[in-house]
Amino acid sequence: MNDRPIGVFDSGFGGLTVARALIDLLGDEEIIYVGDTARYPYGPRPAAEVRRFSREIAEHLVRVEDVKMIVVACNTAAAVALDELRYDFEVPVVGVIEPGVRAAAAATRNGEIGVIGTTGTIASGAYQRAAAALHVTTGVHFTACPGFVEFVERGELDGDSVHVLAERLLSPLREAGVDTLLLGCTHYPFLARTIGDVMGREVVLVSSAEETAFDVRAILNSTGLGRRTPAKRAHRFLSSGDTSWFSTMGRRLLGPELAAAEAVTFGA
Ligand code: DGL
Repeated sequence: MNDRPIGVFDSGFGGLTVARALIDLLGDEEIIYVGDTARYPYGPRPAAEVRRFSREIAEHLVRVEDVKMIVVACNTAAAVALDELRYDFEVPVVGVIEPGVRAAAAATRNGEIGVIGTTGTIASGAYQRAAAALHVTTGVHFTACPGFVEFVERGELDGDSVHVLAERLLSPLREAGVDTLLLGCTHYPFLARTIGDVMGREVVLVSSAEETAFDVRAILNSTGLGRRTPAKRAHRFLSSGDTSWFSTMGRRLLGPELAAAEAVTFGA
């Protein structure tokens, strides 16, 4: 039981930010990552469709890969599917939304927090609910950033086009005077240079990756699910799209642990 891998999934490369934090914090654990690159972006899709995709991937991770825990390393999926996955599967299911809000609340100095995410995430109200549940109710400003995910998936992490888009999308948050910006999409840390340049150096960018990894460690400790034997460190990476692009770009984004990508197929 304990030596089974931890399953992590996202619509594409974004969840690699969380996988990186997990690998760094939990050196003994093995990760199996699914990037649903054939069906990204999730952000503009109807909630019911994202729920179905999330369920299919979770089924694969539990039934085929025999994971001991699922990390939903995609805000859009966590926003609409986390509760259902927790109900349907016996393994612990961890999301990225609550950890992110906690980290942002701890970071702000002036109490004005910006939250950016996909259209689906912001429209779902999941961040608004998480902020209210954690009593972070004042000074939280939400903005959807359609288009950011596509730049990351294409490997365009900086350059004029993404900068122009960021200027336009982030200007309301600059005007709101936020001192902390929560990157509420796991793809966005890969655009941190552009986002940071646009927001200005006094604004702290917060990602949910590290905080989520701490949550995973706490659950491993409290459930006794942590590995007992030394890991082979044979992390595996699965992509439903172009595996050659996934391994090339994925290695650039995650690091050398992503040696190769395997193919996985889901429905349409
Ligand atoms: N990384 C996903 C998230 O955190 C991106 C979703 C998408 O594919 O649009 O929301």
